[in-house]
Amino acid sequence: MLQPSDKALVPFVSVDDMMKLVHHIGIEPMLKGIADYIEADFRRWELFDKTPRIASHSQEGVIELMPTSDGEVYGFKYVNGHPKNTKEGLQTVTAFGLLADVNTGYPVLLTEMTVLTALRTAATSAMVAKYLAPKGSTTMAMIGNGAQSEFQSLAMKAICGIDSVRLYDIDSAATDKAARNLAGMGLNVVKCSTAEESMEGAQIITTCTADKQCATILTDNMIGSGVHINAIGGDCPGKTELAPAILHRSDIFVEYPEQTRIEGEIQQMEDDHPVTEMWEVISGKQAGRTNPEQITLFDSVGFAIEDFSALRYVRDNIKGTELFIDLDLLADPDDPRDLFGMVQRASSEA
Ligand SMILES: NC(=O)c1ccc[n+]([C@@H]2O[C@H](COP(=O)([O-])OP(=O)(O)OC[C@H]3O[C@@H](n4cnc5c(N)ncnc54)[C@H](O)[C@@H]3O)[C@@H](O)[C@H]2O)c1
Repeated sequence: MLQPSDKALVPFVSVDDMMKLVHHIGIEPMLKGIADYIEADFRRWELFDKTPRIASHSQEGVIELMPTSDGEVYGFKYVNGHPKNTKEGLQTVTAFGLLADVNTGYPVLLTEMTVLTALRTAATSAMVAKYLAPKGSTTMAMIGNGAQSEFQSLAMKAICGIDSVRLYDIDSAATDKAARNLAGMGLNVVKCSTAEESMEGAQIITTCTADKQCATILTDNMIGSGVHINAIGGDCPGKTELAPAILHRSDIFVEYPEQTRIEGEIQQMEDDHPVTEMWEVISGKQAGRTNPEQITLFDSVGFAIEDFSALRYVRDNIKGTELFIDLDLLADPDDPRDLFGMVQRASSEA
């Protein structure tokens, strides 16, 4: 067999290697590390190429491409969202992604991103809550106890210092699973049988449900003053979690308005409904929480720059480890213009 040259090889991080990386670094330090990379990239927001993600909708779900570039490095993620999948033994969300060198266009990293998306979504939520949640928040209601939920809980612990999480899901098996997984991880975990019960004493309310419709996970009367809502699950046209009345009472913070107005909770509002961009809060250009009575809402949909940051984090942290393999991904003929000759010569090797 012909051996590929170095130029043909691209580091590839499999799911197995990603899980090993999580254990090698530790889940909470990794969540913090990714949050730091995301925060750093939000500070240089204006540098990036930005576009709403390219979505291909179908009856049962969506497949999306999420590209961005800072001028030196280009990244994209492939991700799906299929709420019915779990009933068939498949996940709602799976993903993989790539970084490339803008100068040559050559890929420099290919990686699984299903685990990495859960880490980056949680890291983003907690990084944002650091700016918006009431000071000294200790308790989070975690509504929707599926794949993302433990990551969300641990990121809020590691980055915002919460010590209690109150779990609720319409499927109590999901709540049991999340409680089991979080046992012994330094959080006081309470299983609740209604959404209202999960919100008792909570300063942070995370909604992370999956349903391919405009659901009403939170109604207006459930929300008192002085809370931070971290709304994760409303992230597609026709797929929301909050009653519009809550949006009228909240100060709404978003990633990239052009995408959030299509996909987020604010798709239920007028096109010019006021929102604040998180990068401006982080850069000190706009205020975050200004008083303890305020209801802050992070209308999260997930933006390409967060994936770019997570990919950068992985590229930097696999250096010097064996947590990747070199994939023979790029054709590398001896004469760059003799691609055909390279293919022809391979016949004698077949
Ligand atoms: N904003 C982002 O950046 C981002 C990133 C990843 C995923 N998501 C979204 O987050 C959501 C959760 O993703 P996941 O991978 O954890 O999905 P999942 O299917 O693993 O879990 C969803 C959970 O929600 C529960 N649920 C559904 N309806 C409910 C209701 N009315 N009340 C309480 N619980 C309910 C389900 O029983 C399930 O346990 C999805 O909608 C996904 O698209 C958003």
